[in-house]
Amino acid sequence: MHYKKTLLILVFISFLFNCKNEEKISSEVLIIPQPSEQTINKGSFILNDSTGIQYDDAFKISAEFLKTYIEEGGNLRFQENNTISFIKDDSLTNEGYILEVLPKNIKIKAKTDQGAFYAAQSLRQLLPPEFENGSFQDEEVIIPCTTIKDEPEFTYRGMHLDVGRHMFSVDFIKKYIDALAMLKMNTFHWHLTEDQGWRIEIKKYPKLQEIAAFRNETLVGHYSDQPHKFDGKTYGGFYTQEEVKDVVAYAKRRFVTVIPEIELPGHAQAAIAAYPELGCTGEQVEVVTKWGVYEEIYCPKEETFTFLENVLDEVLALFPSKYIHIGGDEAPKTRWKNCDHCQALIKKEGLKDEHELQSYFISRIEAYLNSKGRQIIGWDEILEGGLAPNATVMSWRGINGAIEAAKQHHNVIMTPTSHCYFDYYQSENEDEPIAIGGFLPLEKVYSFNPIPDELNEEESKYVLGAQGNIWTEYIKTSEHIEYMAFPRILAMSEVVWSKQENKNYADFVKRVENFHERLDALNINYANHLYEIEGDLLSDNNGLRYQLQTLTDRKTIRFTLDGSEPTVNSEAYTKPIPITESVSIKASVFNSDKKLGTTFSQDINLHKAVGKKITINKEPHKSYPGSGAEGLVNGISGSDSRYGDKEWLGFWGEDIEIIIDLGEETDITSVKTRFHNGQGQWIYAPKAIEFGFDAHGVDSKAKIPEVFDKMLPVIIKADVSSRYIYLKIPNYGIIPEGKQGAGNKAWTFIDEIIVN
Ligand code: ACM
Ligand code: ZN
Repeated sequence: MHYKKTLLILVFISFLFNCKNEEKISSEVLIIPQPSEQTINKGSFILNDSTGIQYDDAFKISAEFLKTYIEEGGNLRFQENNTISFIKDDSLTNEGYILEVLPKNIKIKAKTDQGAFYAAQSLRQLLPPEFENGSFQDEEVIIPCTTIKDEPEFTYRGMHLDVGRHMFSVDFIKKYIDALAMLKMNTFHWHLTEDQGWRIEIKKYPKLQEIAAFRNETLVGHYSDQPHKFDGKTYGGFYTQEEVKDVVAYAKRRFVTVIPEIELPGHAQAAIAAYPELGCTGEQVEVVTKWGVYEEIYCPKEETFTFLENVLDEVLALFPSKYIHIGGDEAPKTRWKNCDHCQALIKKEGLKDEHELQSYFISRIEAYLNSKGRQIIGWDEILEGGLAPNATVMSWRGINGAIEAAKQHHNVIMTPTSHCYFDYYQSENEDEPIAIGGFLPLEKVYSFNPIPDELNEEESKYVLGAQGNIWTEYIKTSEHIEYMAFPRILAMSEVVWSKQENKNYADFVKRVENFHERLDALNINYANHLYEIEGDLLSDNNGLRYQLQTLTDRKTIRFTLDGSEPTVNSEAYTKPIPITESVSIKASVFNSDKKLGTTFSQDINLHKAVGKKITINKEPHKSYPGSGAEGLVNGISGSDSRYGDKEWLGFWGEDIEIIIDLGEETDITSVKTRFHNGQGQWIYAPKAIEFGFDAHGVDSKAKIPEVFDKMLPVIIKADVSSRYIYLKIPNYGIIPEGKQGAGNKAWTFIDEIIVN
């Protein structure tokens, strides 16, 4: 974007553009999310002190947004001459718009104020980032002529925020909503109640404020770090009804609907701590002080339904949203199994089991909300025991919940952990702030297609859209939320807004890099991993080679092979590096002589199985494919601190058998690998493995002690000569009572198999 002091300079600059730097002008129309159609035209519009704005009441919100944005951001006053006009166009879709920047005027065409608001957001991105904070000081802005015809792919475009585990100020919630609106997202899912804290004022139940809103202390460090330590400090708070109203009204002016989540029947321990009669045992419990899933859930007694209906009455008065999220996830059935009331109710209602009792519970709440003109959304566990008649399913444990619900003709919203959990790590850098686990880099978010392959066209219509989720067990500050949300939210905005066929990751990255200045001006603490290096081992007719790539254009990668830090004098990378012995590669990205980002390191261990034939009887799980079976013998070990990168392979509940064919008889002295233990994430090392040194047989069995070691090494010592190595790795089995995910199948994560 270019702006200037005098007309004379303008002519000069334009001349430069037209003759020398065509690319520069066109590269300046960089919008996130990517519009449906966009053409760059000849000429430019000059936004200055003589620009006027024309609109009528139909476009009040969007026009006033733009007027304020330009007046306050650019210190420019609207007048008459060259105008920005809002024009009603009923041929467009509800959220669609056309933005035409012409030499003498800018036309915003829309059917609704909301569509016009999105046009204003696109126009905003054509103005200098200084407009974001009022620091723009020049007299005018040259906007390249362009025509943008745009509309969203999905009607539900959301972001979630958990305020139960940690709480954030109203000012921050507004900043978050502003960011959503800028990215044309239209839904804020406000997760208001949790085991660790109840965060919304309910006037009829004062103990929710006095007791449920506060916990005595909080877990320090990661749940998987044993033994657990606590900080000894009371933590809590809640949003008053006045604050909630203020947030909802604020969001409305930005076309963001706020959907409250009131969790039931699980994640209810804080409420039960305040009112023990809501639980099965009636015993006093505490507001929970660490993370995970807890057995105290609401007992389906009449007084519980009365409580929940009264709570919901106050919630409905605050939130005009069509949807109310009622939770439904992670509700262990232990209490219900041992409760006379629950068992009698199962009999009385002719229910098969506790899952059907959950379905009964949800259906009653749904009927209540339907009677008030509202619809429910629930996490995918609400499928178990039968869906409530009109429920929308939020699919988080992968996409199977969505497929099942859509096939039953229920609406679905996609939030699978694999692509939508922004509480996961976003980089393999070991210095990332502590996160719950997992690995969800920007590119993976970007690659998400909310429509599962398994659905036909008719069924696909039930997919309303998708949402990024931010759970805050490990996120205490608003800066940290921003770090986890940005830039992944930019990718999510394209997932839900832009056409699948228009998505292009390299182009997106260019726009993200350009967007950094705007995020800086907005004082948003985004993560920047654009200057990191991605390494890949190539194995083909040219032998083993290691490829280095970085996302952004016009940068140089420099590398060393002796373990030293790369400098501006290190060798510039031009082609894949031949690997003929074990090496330690270090590489960095340089912009001329300036080093960007962090140093990339990769050790390659050329052990005896590298590049050899490997077969596994099962495919790794779709969400954790690593680099496939070959990735277990590629000379590269997985991260030392987390699973889910390119080198760890994940299997869910399956017994696996691995055969490595070394091609010829080879002396073997050891076979080593690692298993991951992440009990909070349902991941367990196997209890024992079996192994052998021919293609099928098992010679021996190695018991793996049930010790707690996050990255459990297993070493098989040998003294054999063999062509084959055979490993049988049974799944841990069902997760025992008292552990996170009890009753579910455990995951197995396995790392490189190192043969010496
Ligand atoms: C969830 O992550 N428990 C919905
Ligand atoms: Zn009960």
